[in-house]
Amino acid sequence: MSSSSSRLPVVDSLEKVAGEVTGCPKCKLARTRKNAVPGEGQLSAKVMFVGEAPGRSEDEKGRPFVGAAGKILDEMLAKAGISRSQVFITNVVKCRPPNNRVPEDDEVQACTPYLERQIALIRPRIICILGRTAYSSILGGGSITANRGKIIEKAGQKYFLTIHPAAAIYNRSMLSLLEADLKKLAKEIDGAEGR
Ligand code: URA
Repeated sequence: MSSSSSRLPVVDSLEKVAGEVTGCPKCKLARTRKNAVPGEGQLSAKVMFVGEAPGRSEDEKGRPFVGAAGKILDEMLAKAGISRSQVFITNVVKCRPPNNRVPEDDEVQACTPYLERQIALIRPRIICILGRTAYSSILGGGSITANRGKIIEKAGQKYFLTIHPAAAIYNRSMLSLLEADLKKLAKEIDGAEGR
């Protein structure tokens, strides 16, 4: 069929991605989640934070980082002078794995196109990778200890790796590492904005 509407370009948007995530049937997590968690923040955000997957509170509320790990992230962002409204926050996997287990490969694979679309739409100057799952799915992984707290450039995109805030729930010594990293990130953001 040839009609003018069939030739219109398909325009993507954060709202479209969020709508698809909310009803996503692509992996087994769709059967156990309460709410999918697309992520939140402005299209104009200069920095994007990417965590692992929603936990219990996020699954209840449909919002990222609103539970114990989110409280730590909020505190550390405040100490670094980064406002949550300045950044876009999302996860590699948008639905809660049962009992907060680490997402499985098929779940990461099914969900990755959503993250890729969010990155393509926002075009963040810096993507802040929170912890191991995001590190391995976005950059292929490696030593967090050796690579955290610095800018990593790949294919024209800047990344900044730090520890996952949940790591500081049981190991408070991680808090000072996260705080130091986010302060460095804040400087990078200021530098990027000045350019
Ligand atoms: N942990 C994550 O990785 N993401 C969240 O949204 C909450 C906890």
